[in-house]
Amino acid sequence: MAQIRIRKTNERIEGEAEVKAFLDSHNVVYEHWNPTKLPEALREKFILSDDEKAQIISTYEEEIRDLAARRGYEIWDVIALSDSTPDIEKLLQKFEQVHTHTEDEIRAIVSGKGIFIIKSEDEVGYFDVELEPGDVISVPENTNHFFTLMDNREIVAVRLFIEKDGWVAYNIEDPDFIKA
Ligand SMILES: [Fe+2]
Repeated sequence: MAQIRIRKTNERIEGEAEVKAFLDSHNVVYEHWNPTKLPEALREKFILSDDEKAQIISTYEEEIRDLAARRGYEIWDVIALSDSTPDIEKLLQKFEQVHTHTEDEIRAIVSGKGIFIIKSEDEVGYFDVELEPGDVISVPENTNHFFTLMDNREIVAVRLFIEKDGWVAYNIEDPDFIKA
């Protein structure tokens, strides 16, 4: 289950109903897939072959097709990141830049952990959404955000796109951004 941390106040929001209500109020989609559907051999595995990625897609095919039908996604893939990922430091540096997209950014966490840092339109400011396996989240289009790993630095997630080529990051230098 996801947890929220508000950067300005360090306030934490825990508990499924509270987290859901907070994210709903910021138009952030928050749903769940069953993390135990993942085959045993793929659990806590962060270096994946193409076959293993395909196996993850087929494990969650029903959930993916349901999301795609409801929200208009056309393509999907699996991303795996860990300290074994080539150029992980460079990648993380690139990730940790506030940006927007013209379509929403949806991720379903399959293994490991990650954080979306999202800017609220109201006085709440930037908040962290800490994600664990089974959490599905979508950052609305044109909303300042970025994604990064947590201390374990390991994640596997399913990404869905309306149009992959159109999924471009527009970097933003935001004076309101509060680091960690
Ligand atoms: Fe993004």
